[in-house]
Amino acid sequence: MCGIVGFVGKRNATPLLIEGLKRLEYRGYDSAGVAVLSVSGMAIAKTKGKVSALDAELANHPIEGTAGIAHTRWATHGAPEQRNAHPHRVGQIALVHNGIIENYAALKMEMIERGASFLSDTDTEVMSQWLHDRCAQGVSFAEAFGMMLPLLHGAYAIVALHEDEPDTLYVARKGSPMVVGTNDAQECWVGSDMLALAGYATQGYYLADGEYAILQPSTMRFFAADHTPIQVTMQSMNVGAEIHDKQGFAHFMLKEIHEQPDVIRKTLSHYYDHETQSVHFEGLTLDPTTISSITMVACGTSFYAAQVASYWFEQITHIPVRIDIASEYRYRHPIVPKDSAALFISQSGETADTLAAMRYAKEHGAHTIALVNVPTSTMAREADSVIRTLAGAEIGVASTKAFVAQLTTLAALVLYFGGARSTLSSEETAHLMHHLSGVAEQTQQVLDEKMHYDRLALALMYARDMLFIGRGTSYPLANEGALKMKELSYIHAEGYAAGELKHGPIALVDDGVPIIVIAPDDALFDKSASNLEETAARKGNIVLISSKERVANFHGNVTHSVAVPACHPFVAPILYAVPLQLLSYYVALHKGADIDQPRNLAKSVTVE
Ligand code: G6P
Repeated sequence: MCGIVGFVGKRNATPLLIEGLKRLEYRGYDSAGVAVLSVSGMAIAKTKGKVSALDAELANHPIEGTAGIAHTRWATHGAPEQRNAHPHRVGQIALVHNGIIENYAALKMEMIERGASFLSDTDTEVMSQWLHDRCAQGVSFAEAFGMMLPLLHGAYAIVALHEDEPDTLYVARKGSPMVVGTNDAQECWVGSDMLALAGYATQGYYLADGEYAILQPSTMRFFAADHTPIQVTMQSMNVGAEIHDKQGFAHFMLKEIHEQPDVIRKTLSHYYDHETQSVHFEGLTLDPTTISSITMVACGTSFYAAQVASYWFEQITHIPVRIDIASEYRYRHPIVPKDSAALFISQSGETADTLAAMRYAKEHGAHTIALVNVPTSTMAREADSVIRTLAGAEIGVASTKAFVAQLTTLAALVLYFGGARSTLSSEETAHLMHHLSGVAEQTQQVLDEKMHYDRLALALMYARDMLFIGRGTSYPLANEGALKMKELSYIHAEGYAAGELKHGPIALVDDGVPIIVIAPDDALFDKSASNLEETAARKGNIVLISSKERVANFHGNVTHSVAVPACHPFVAPILYAVPLQLLSYYVALHKGADIDQPRNLAKSVTVE
């Protein structure tokens, strides 16, 4: 979603801001812009499309200044066109924004009645117009900025500049994240995530909801929503700029897929003590024996991790589990059961719907647990308990290693709950942990055979539609496989519970529709095999993904098969995620799609 970078110091801001925008490209966007201030005034450049287009524009028409703001826009109000790109300048004021101003139409009407003429279709421009209008009435920019914030409904992270103050950035945040950073060279930085600041700022502070700041190289002033000055504690920022390096891989996604064996090892060595054979979760302040139900809420890929975990938790810990998509949960007034835990799964820890759902559950008395990959995220700060996934920064928009980290962490969590509630003996825990530990090596074996997926992708890339089917924990995996395929290759793909195929989707089956059957070697294999035969009988173009042994001995009608190392059924969803990722990756690669930044998608969805 929209990326924001701001800088004020003594150096030329333009190249620093452009570098910051390049680092935020992974968030997903469709236009970009930059505004800089120098003693001779303000200069702006904006382009539709990639940051490289903005860079080219700046090469032809350079602009310089020692303070500036820059933005990558993911269109919400108004098409992705140059005139809708940020910064939005009105008179001496320029402003960038991430989020949605929900009452923008009323504010816009008010401004039009006062004589304003709007240049864009965005909700953002009402803020520039409003500030301009107040300043024209003699109000100082600092005062106008503070006065405007309570009028805004919705979510925002804003940075604004005024031409008369070439060394000052005005920053505010409600709902959408914003980090402020500084360093020994007396430079101030702001960013919609810390990656923009990595390697530049050594100290950082995440603005809390409602807070705002006025930043100058010599002084940084912070204010609460009621305008009271506040003292903030800067944290040291130790993210290096090297995370932006693809390390020889063609795409971040491929690099991140290859990091998965290490992610699994790192996760298990963090949460499992081999010597005492015990699982531990320090960030969890909840006693698992005191709860009578769990609700799991998430969006996108994280939701499918929740879906897998719901099977694990009910089977292993015997706790009833309810799962929900965050955008539904937050508005359907769900009943929050007494003595319940509510688990919110999110790579970014910033997804607007998941965050709102978490706040709802907290208000209604649940113990909230944030399972997040970004430990400084809003969800991590607001939850009662925090469980970290240790995937490291994920740059590819389509989630891969974060999903595998979520599954591995949730598998360890289920063993922890099972042990605490005595539904698992210590021998059973050690046995399942042994299989969990083996997945790192099995994942590596799948990666070593990636050329099979490359070849198979050539056979699938012309499909217009695909079906992914599975039973048990392979059903959520089928959903995730289909999501990955549509995100990356733009092929229409649906995930289905294999047993549900007959209730509709089988009508779609013909020889042009590949059906990916995810059938690990488990108690449900024969059932899935029957569903496979039903589609084969209707000329389905079947790809069977199963264990090496099952594939070798399967004599049914499959067009292609993919053999995965044998594994315990408990860990199958983690291992089988990898073939699905590779398949989507190679289909997208052969189709020439934009793998790390698929069209229309955003990595961190900070608007609802
Ligand atoms: C976006 C991303 C997905 C991600 C989803 C949830 O749609 O493109 O990859 O799964 O958001 O994000 P979260 O950060 O909450 O896991």
